[in-house]
Amino acid sequence: MLKQIRSWLNIKLAIPLVGFLRTWILNVIIGNVPLAAVRNAYYRHVCGISIGNNTEIWTGVRFTGGAMDRISIGDHCTIPHYTFFVAGDSIVIGNNVVFGHGVELYTSDHDPDDPHFSRRDAPITIHDNVWIGSSAIILKGVTIGEGAVVAAGAVVTRDVDAFTIVGGNPAKLIRERGTRVFKQFPYGK
Ligand SMILES: CC(C)(COP(=O)(O)OP(=O)(O)OC[C@H]1O[C@@H](n2cnc3c(N)ncnc32)[C@H](O)[C@@H]1OP(=O)(O)O)[C@@H](O)C(=O)NCCC(=O)NCCS
Repeated sequence: MLKQIRSWLNIKLAIPLVGFLRTWILNVIIGNVPLAAVRNAYYRHVCGISIGNNTEIWTGVRFTGGAMDRISIGDHCTIPHYTFFVAGDSIVIGNNVVFGHGVELYTSDHDPDDPHFSRRDAPITIHDNVWIGSSAIILKGVTIGEGAVVAAGAVVTRDVDAFTIVGGNPAKLIRERGTRVFKQFPYGK
């Protein structure tokens, strides 16, 4: 009986509490510490986020969701202030990917046709050399192809083809990108 109570308390209380505290400390305290080494150590070792070499995650970036340990950010990426990762499923970002400020990624939503608003999760994948403009929103299940550009303020609901520029709500093709050769970002590092 005692064992069952302990197991119940663990599942119902301890695990959610630890998850809540980890996320609260991450977003309210650690994410604002002006030392990248401290932030990165917490992201990597407490949250299990994979961060590549020469990748910058600026202050004020927020993370939430039960699949934080399935967030992976490649090499030479820039994730600036106010980016918001909602990771109910994996978020995989390739190399040399640049975000503008305030990009939001949502792997999760609720089924609008279900009376219980049941949750739906699907991964987000962003390939190498992508630039995502400020305040763009990327929704669940979306793959952004290599070298694509997402215009500022776009709401991306469908996959984006490689080397294209998309914008608007919902995001539509604007044009092809004018180059397929990219230098590592940040330049000169
Ligand atoms: C996407 C972007 C790069 C467009 O570049 P571009 O193709 O050189 O721009 P243009 O001005 O020639 O615009 C091409 C078309 O896209 C449209 N467009 C441009 N920006 C758009 C946006 N954010 N959303 C929707 N449509 C956009 C233009 O209205 C134009 O349409 P038209 O041909 O019907 O007139 C740019 O507008 C943008 O969104 N930049 C992001 C800025 C940002 O986030 N900066 C943060 C620094 S990391």
